[in-house]
Amino acid sequence: MCGIIGFVGCEEAAPILLDGLERMEYRGYDSAGIAVRSETKGLQVKKCKGRLKVLSELTHGGADLEGTLGIGHTRWATHGEPNDINAHPHISENGQIALVHNGIIENYLEIKEHLMKLGVTFTSDTDSEVVAQLLEFHYNECHNMLEAVGRVLRRIEGSYALGIVCSDYPNALIAARKDSPLIIGYGENGNFIASDVTAIIKHTRDVVYMGDGEIAVLTADSVDVFDDEMVPLEKKHSTVDWDVSAAEKGGYAHFMFKEIMEQPEAIRKTISPRIREGRVVLDDVSVTAEYVQDISRIFIIACGSSYHVGMVSKYNWERLLRRPVQVDLASEFRYSDPLVDEHSLVVVISQSGETLDTMAAMREAKRRGARTLAIVNVVGSSIAREADDVLYTWAGPEIAVATTKAYSTQLVLMDLIGLYLADLLGTVEKSEYDDILVEVQALPEKMQSFLDHFEDVQYFASRYFNHNSIFFIGRNLDYAMGLEGSLKLKEISYIHSEAYASGELKHGTISLIEPGTLVVALGTYAALFDKAMSNVVEVKARGAEVLAVTTKSFQEKMEKTADSTIVVPDTHPILQPSLGVVPLQLFAYYVALQRGCDIDKPRNLAKSVTVE
Ligand code: F6R
Repeated sequence: MCGIIGFVGCEEAAPILLDGLERMEYRGYDSAGIAVRSETKGLQVKKCKGRLKVLSELTHGGADLEGTLGIGHTRWATHGEPNDINAHPHISENGQIALVHNGIIENYLEIKEHLMKLGVTFTSDTDSEVVAQLLEFHYNECHNMLEAVGRVLRRIEGSYALGIVCSDYPNALIAARKDSPLIIGYGENGNFIASDVTAIIKHTRDVVYMGDGEIAVLTADSVDVFDDEMVPLEKKHSTVDWDVSAAEKGGYAHFMFKEIMEQPEAIRKTISPRIREGRVVLDDVSVTAEYVQDISRIFIIACGSSYHVGMVSKYNWERLLRRPVQVDLASEFRYSDPLVDEHSLVVVISQSGETLDTMAAMREAKRRGARTLAIVNVVGSSIAREADDVLYTWAGPEIAVATTKAYSTQLVLMDLIGLYLADLLGTVEKSEYDDILVEVQALPEKMQSFLDHFEDVQYFASRYFNHNSIFFIGRNLDYAMGLEGSLKLKEISYIHSEAYASGELKHGTISLIEPGTLVVALGTYAALFDKAMSNVVEVKARGAEVLAVTTKSFQEKMEKTADSTIVVPDTHPILQPSLGVVPLQLFAYYVALQRGCDIDKPRNLAKSVTVE
């Protein structure tokens, strides 16, 4: 997804901008550019299609662009193909205004036609250039940049994070946001704007999250933030509490691998502040037993892997709470005229806290009277700020596009919430409550013991990496876990893969099984292990090669039938997916490695999906 950085201060801007853009590379992009302003050279712009390396070479590491005020952008094409011209920054017709934009301007065509009739010439196919040209148009009318920005924001529709530099304002960087993240960073040698904290963490941890409709004016030693009526605002500062090394590879070949290995610690950080004296404590959630009694239905809404967490939680929460739990894809929910009301609890799950569909679904649920609880990893993100309650996963920054540690922390946090709600409802026996809590606390260690010896996963990946199509089968929690295993594999290795509830095989899919087809059979859910085994036998009988994942307790039985078996430690049944998913992540990783794929930046994918 697009990335923005801006700097104004007393150091050369271009190297800072290039470094910041590099730190946001993980988000996915197809072109990049920077604009820097200096007294002597005015506004200088360099942009090009392709990797940042190309831009860096083009500008000699930024040395060619002189000045201490500038903006930079990595673009992920939405309107207009990826090429040099469509790359940001966009320059207004007279060359006086440079602008970077994240988001989508929905009424750009109408504005473009209007400006063209007035004689404005456009050079790109983008919606973003329209904002630059409209800004020049209004600036020429009123000769006041802030007033012109205000007029533009009232005219455009859609989502935006904007960084603006104008030749007539040699010391000021202007920013604005609506439905697309933008933060302000307060540094010692200047101030920053960025769409992602990773871009500026090297320089400062002192940040302000801009709100919707807000406009900011930054100089080297001041920051002023205004609301949409230009009334000055007092903004609350936040401190980013993770270290710069958290967003670096630290000796690992890939962020994905590093993040897989960080899972035990991430889980520890997520659970330990929430378990006190043998009880789950959710300090940030203010729900009472009466409120929970009054809930008639729980909705879990998310996209992608976060949705898969929801699938696991549906099984677990229905078992613990004895209440109907519905899991919905955010992109479907928002347009489904959902049956949500004030008796619904809507839980939204999002690592980034910026996924547009999830945010829109949450807003729709709120509009219909539901109470919303967000499970989010990025502090201060849009979903976190808009939800009635928010619980953070403390996974730290996740850089690889394919989620691993965010998924694991979401899963364990959902288990804790389930337990907490069940306790309020009185639907869980004390002994089971205690058992689950003991096992939750043992998860990091058990996961670590698996991560200390996973050579067999690496070996199986080298044995199976050249399959063109791979099926994941399982029942109940194993099915939910298989959905995630299959997604991991397809997104980074580009192998076609499907996950099926094993019982569904004979209703159609089994016709795809032929001699040599690889089936990853998940048999970790104890209650249905024997049923899962019959499905393994079924696919074996059709010639499938079976790679199984099971627990220590069922190892012997599974090894009798499967061709290859990976064994994870036993835990309480509802927590088993937390351990079972780890070999699936590693399998996907090593298969992708064998196939020479760009693991941290898989093709066509972006880390946070802020467009529909
Ligand atoms: C897959 C993956 C995606 C995200 C999805 C939702 O590895 O990362 O499927 O889970 O785009 O993103 P968030 O959780 O940020 O809302």
